[in-house]
Amino acid sequence: MKTLDFEVVGRQYPTLSHDWTIWLTGLSGSGKSTLAQALAKHLEDYSLPYELLDGDIIRQGVCRDLGFSKEDRDENIRRIGCIAELLNRHNVIAIVAAISPYEKAREEVRKGIPKFLEVHVDCPLDTLVRRDVKGLYRRALAGQIEHFSGISDPYETPTHPDVYVNSANQAVEESLAVILRKLDDLSWLSATETTGRAAVAAR
Ligand code: ADX
Repeated sequence: MKTLDFEVVGRQYPTLSHDWTIWLTGLSGSGKSTLAQALAKHLEDYSLPYELLDGDIIRQGVCRDLGFSKEDRDENIRRIGCIAELLNRHNVIAIVAAISPYEKAREEVRKGIPKFLEVHVDCPLDTLVRRDVKGLYRRALAGQIEHFSGISDPYETPTHPDVYVNSANQAVEESLAVILRKLDDLSWLSATETTGRAAVAAR
């Protein structure tokens, strides 16, 4: 961990450098969770403090009272944003993976988090329907799931995401590399922390 370049009574104090949120938005099945987990693994390799806030998991706990109406989704995003901000305040990186379909809710959350990086995890709808990892698109198309994002509910495509990745034509490692480059550009991770596992092995 980076430290301040002074010591107080022999103790080194960590800098507040892990005070940022990376927010992955995209349709169900687009690869948000997979990419979030790959980033989490990367941070873990460097012993960096992080927490992964995944919509699917959060909805089993702190947001278990919420459904998929616009109001409930906005409330879901607001709560996740509050948790992320709290984590950042305590020097813990927040990785968020949630559909977050509404532009206004995403903008609200951005306003409340000083260091916020929006990543659009894109994938064409026909590919998502073909993959249908959870079998939800089939059910949504058959009318068995109401308000399903991209089918019977809107997804407002980010117009100016900080990072754009496309899981239809990029491997997870490629998308991760794009994100790490951005984090390096922003100096939210150091060059060493973004260069991959080989660098760890060489240390
Ligand atoms: S969000 O819109 O409020 O951001 P969130 O990411 O938390 O959504 O949860 C989405 C997950 O809930 C999906 O990956 C899917 O597994 C599940 N789900 C169940 N019903 C729906 C629905 N109607 N629309 C979208 N996702 C749904």
